[in-house]
Amino acid sequence: MISGTLEECGEMREVKPTWQGAVFVCTHEREPESCKAWCGRERGTDLREWLKARRKAEGLKGRILVAKSSCLGVCSKHGVTVAIMPSGSEPSKRQMVVFGPGDDRERLWARIRNALVGE
Ligand code: FES
Repeated sequence: MISGTLEECGEMREVKPTWQGAVFVCTHEREPESCKAWCGRERGTDLREWLKARRKAEGLKGRILVAKSSCLGVCSKHGVTVAIMPSGSEPSKRQMVVFGPGDDRERLWARIRNALVGE
């Protein structure tokens, strides 16, 4: 059994994910009167659920992680920020996109699939 803080235990260890890549969908929300842009919990959650269903339909559940995130630092009032992160790859292969209301979910999925599993 582990007790105390992580620093006291000194047992930080590296782990390897089983997935090939991850998608982080911003669901950050601010106060309605905020003048800052934000993606929005509802829109982000809706997009995330769609991506999870799409992933499952293609049998990629164990290969692509679809997670929600807080603010990713590139806020937009007119879309949801999505970070596409291949596992263990060089930083230049990481992508961030803002998915707007008129954008095609299938095109986003094709981009994710191509970046993370290359198929
Ligand atoms: S609120 Fe979504 S990226 Fe900042």
